[in-house]
Amino acid sequence: MVINNKMAKKLLVANWKMNPDTVDSADHLFDAVLKGINEDLNAEVVICPPFIYLERLKSKNKKLKKNVNLGAQDCFWEEKGAFTGEISPTMLKNIRCHYVILGHSERRDFFAETDEMILQKTKKALQVGLKPILCIGEKGEEKESGETFDVLKNQIQNVVGKLPKYQLANLSIAYEPIWAIGTGENCPANEAMTVLMFIKKELLKILSKNIVDRIMILYGGSVNSKNAKCYIDAGFDGLLVGGASLKPGDFVEMIKTCSN
Ligand code: PGA
Repeated sequence: MVINNKMAKKLLVANWKMNPDTVDSADHLFDAVLKGINEDLNAEVVICPPFIYLERLKSKNKKLKKNVNLGAQDCFWEEKGAFTGEISPTMLKNIRCHYVILGHSERRDFFAETDEMILQKTKKALQVGLKPILCIGEKGEEKESGETFDVLKNQIQNVVGKLPKYQLANLSIAYEPIWAIGTGENCPANEAMTVLMFIKKELLKILSKNIVDRIMILYGGSVNSKNAKCYIDAGFDGLLVGGASLKPGDFVEMIKTCSN
């Protein structure tokens, strides 16, 4: 099985989570990443700051480098209306934010998001023309009890399996083992590679090869500049980076090593 299209640009996504705590720090972080990126790199970089910084980062950088885009960390499934505190996919689209992370384990965990909710969000995001990055992954105890593949299979079937097929070329999937997120304990590359092959096999059960080949599959979970390349070598199309994306030097280094 061909597991990596070496010609495709690698997708490097920075998930800033609920950081940093001032606009000035967000500016600095963004500028430092932009400065380190060359447009010739074989990579597309997506910065996902908190909502409140999105428009500013987009508009302050009118000459946003072609290979740098912005993404949100979540969105709702309705376009507008009485949903206090929510941000709609249409609002994101209207500020030219191209990507949105959906189903992150922290949303599933702290905000009780279910596959059904994540399906609605992903459906709507695709419908308005956003590019969702759908997170899937098993908990530590599920891994221990040998349930990894069952968990992933369910998440894929419950969400990807129910999305309109004609829009799926805009979808990316991030495999993020939950036990590896923010722990410093990244998933060994050979294990991640086995999971990658499993995900592709599951996708091929519900989608044509043509579509599966266009879905970018990323790895996330304690990625840093030292271990990043091993996931690209294992066949992943890119990375979803949390903690290390807040250190611009590390993140830029990662982008460079992964796009070679
Ligand atoms: P981490 O987070 O890189 O800090 O482990 C990844 C994520 O939560 O997306």
